[in-house]
Amino acid sequence: MCGIIGYIGNTSATPILLEGLRRLEYRGYDSSGLAVLNDGGLVIRKREGRIANLAEWIDREPLAGNQGISHTRWATHGGVTDANAHPHCDQSGRLALVHNGVIENYRQLQEELAAKGHTFQSETDSEVLAHLVGEAFDALDGGSLAPRNRLVEALRRALRQVTGTYGVAVMHEAVPGVIVGARRGSPLVLGIGKGEHFLASDVGAMVAHTREAVYLQDGDLVAVEGDGFEMTTLGGGRAGYEINTVDFTEGDAVKGAYPHYMLKEIFEQPETIGDAMRGRISRTEAMPKLGGLEMNAKELRAVERIVLTGCGTAAHAGMVGEYLLESLAHLPTEVEFASELRYRNMPMGRDTLVIAISQSGETADTLAALRECQRKGHRTLAICNNVASTIGRESDGGVYMHAGPEIGVAATKSFTSQVTILTLLGILLGRIRHLSTTEGIEMLEALESIPEKVRAILDQSDKIKAIAAKYIDAKAMMFLGRQYNYPVAMEGALKMKEISYIHAEGHPSAELKHGVIALISPEVPSVFIAPDDAVFGKNLSNMEEVKARRGPVIAIGTEGNRELAQVADDVIYIPPCPDFLSPLLTVIPLQLLAYHFAAQLGCDIDKPRNLAKSVTVE
Ligand code: M6R
Repeated sequence: MCGIIGYIGNTSATPILLEGLRRLEYRGYDSSGLAVLNDGGLVIRKREGRIANLAEWIDREPLAGNQGISHTRWATHGGVTDANAHPHCDQSGRLALVHNGVIENYRQLQEELAAKGHTFQSETDSEVLAHLVGEAFDALDGGSLAPRNRLVEALRRALRQVTGTYGVAVMHEAVPGVIVGARRGSPLVLGIGKGEHFLASDVGAMVAHTREAVYLQDGDLVAVEGDGFEMTTLGGGRAGYEINTVDFTEGDAVKGAYPHYMLKEIFEQPETIGDAMRGRISRTEAMPKLGGLEMNAKELRAVERIVLTGCGTAAHAGMVGEYLLESLAHLPTEVEFASELRYRNMPMGRDTLVIAISQSGETADTLAALRECQRKGHRTLAICNNVASTIGRESDGGVYMHAGPEIGVAATKSFTSQVTILTLLGILLGRIRHLSTTEGIEMLEALESIPEKVRAILDQSDKIKAIAAKYIDAKAMMFLGRQYNYPVAMEGALKMKEISYIHAEGHPSAELKHGVIALISPEVPSVFIAPDDAVFGKNLSNMEEVKARRGPVIAIGTEGNRELAQVADDVIYIPPCPDFLSPLLTVIPLQLLAYHFAAQLGCDIDKPRNLAKSVTVE
C-alpha cells in the first residue's frame, strides 16, 4: 500500500517521478505528492485525489531539479487531504520524507516530540518519522561526519526508535545529491542506471529506465547518489546485496488496446494458465514436476496435513485448493485467512505443511502468518507471482505463477494461476500416494485443455455484457455454488462488490434455506454456479427454491445441458470438464459479469474506491 519512487541523476526528476507514480498508482490512489531538490532548495507539491491532479499543477508550474522523491497514498492514519499527502517535512522544513508502512508507536513518539516543541502539519504517523529523522540529523555533529553519512546515521537513529513497518526515502536541503532509503516490512527496490539511480516500491515504476535492480532486505539502509550507492544495515555494518535483472519489460505493464487493465488481465488467462503449468508436466512420468518445492517424493509423502493461507482472492484460491488436495491427494487440508492464522493457536502436527498464497508476495497478514508458522518450526511453501517478493524469498520453497504483472486492483489472472498450481500440487501429491499412471495422465491432459476452453468462454463477453445490462438495477446479488464451486461463488461476489459496489454475497447453495433466502426478491438476482458435476441436481433444486420466491436466476452451466434453461432466466455456458477443473472455467464468466456491471455503472474499474492492490499494512 502506498507507492514510493525517488530519482537522482543527470536529468529532470519530475517527469520520471510522475510517470513512476502513474505506474505505482495501483498501490494507492487517494492523494500524491513529490519533493524536488534544486539550487533554490526543497520544493514540495502534494494534492488530494488522483495523480492527474498533481500532474496538472506541475504542468502549470513546472519544477526543475535532478533529484526528487514522490509518493502515491492509500490512507492509513489521517483522512484523505492535501496535508496528509506525502512528502512530509521535519520541524526545520528542510527535510522531506516519503513512507510506505505503519509506525505503530507514533502517538507516543509524537507526544515526546511535541513536548520538545515540535509542531505537526498532518495527522499521519509518517510525519512523526520525518521529525525524528530531522531531530537526529540536527543533533549529529556536522563537523565530524560527511553530510551523506550524517543523513544515513540520522535515518538509522530514527528508525531504531520506531516499531512498525517502513519503506522510506528521505532528502535534506543540507545534503544535496543524496537520497537515503530503508526498508522493514514494506518493499523498496534500488534501480541502477547510467549516472542515475532510482528507489521505488516496485520495479514496475522504473522499468522504463533500467532493468538492473537490488531488492533491499529488511533492516537495509541505502545512500543513493547519481553515480553510486552504499548499502548498510540498521545495526551500522555493511549490507550484502545482489544485482538482479528484472524479467519483465515496460510493455508487460501497459493496457494496450484494452480500456482497463482488469479486462486485459481477464483476457490474458488462456496464456497465464498455460504459463502456470509450462515445463511442469512430465508425460513420461504422468506427474507434475514442481522443483521449486525443494521437497523430494519421500518428504512429500511424509506430509500428513496441509494448511493453506492467504487473503481475499488468494484465500478463495486456497479454498478451491482445499477441495482439490482432499479429493486428489486424500490429504487433510484446511484454509485459514492469514489475518486469523497469524493470531490463532491452531494445533498443527509435526508433519503439517503450510502454503502461503499471494499474488504480490507482500501482503502483510500473509507474510506474518508465514513467519508465525516458521517460528513454530513448520515447513512453508509459497505460491506467488512476484518473484522478488518477501513471501517468495522467505518461504522454504514454492511455485511461482509467472502470470506477469497484475495491475488491476481486482485480482483475476492471479486466481486462475493459483488454482492451476494447486491443481498440479494435488495431482502430484495424489500420484505419489494412490493415483495410477493412467489417472495421472488423464488429469494432466484435462488440465492442459483448459486454456482453450477459457478462450471459448471469453468469446461470450458480449453476451455477458448484455446480461449485465438486463440486471443493472439489481439492489444486491447472491452468488451460490457447491463443492468446488462454493469458493468460486465467494470469488464472484468479491469481484462484484469490489468493482461495481453492488452488495453481493457468496454462499454454499444449500445454505439458502438457513437464512439467506430471506433476502431473495425480484430485485436481487442470484448467480448459480451449476456445471454438470456431482452436485448438479442439488443445485437445480436450490435454483427452483429461488425461482419460487420470484428471484431472478443467472446460471453458469455446462454446454449441452438442457435442464438449466428451463429454470434459469439466463444461462452462460462453459465447455465440459472434469469436476475438479471446473473452478478454472466457472470463474471466468463471473469476472466478466462483474467487469461489465462496473463498466455500465461507470465505476473506476482499475482503481475501485477505498482499495489498493497490495495490502502491506495489517
Ligand atoms: O497480493 P495478494 O494475493 O496477497 O493479495 C491478497 C488480496 O489482498 C487480494 O486478492 C484482494 O482481495 C483483491 N483485491 C481481490 O480482488
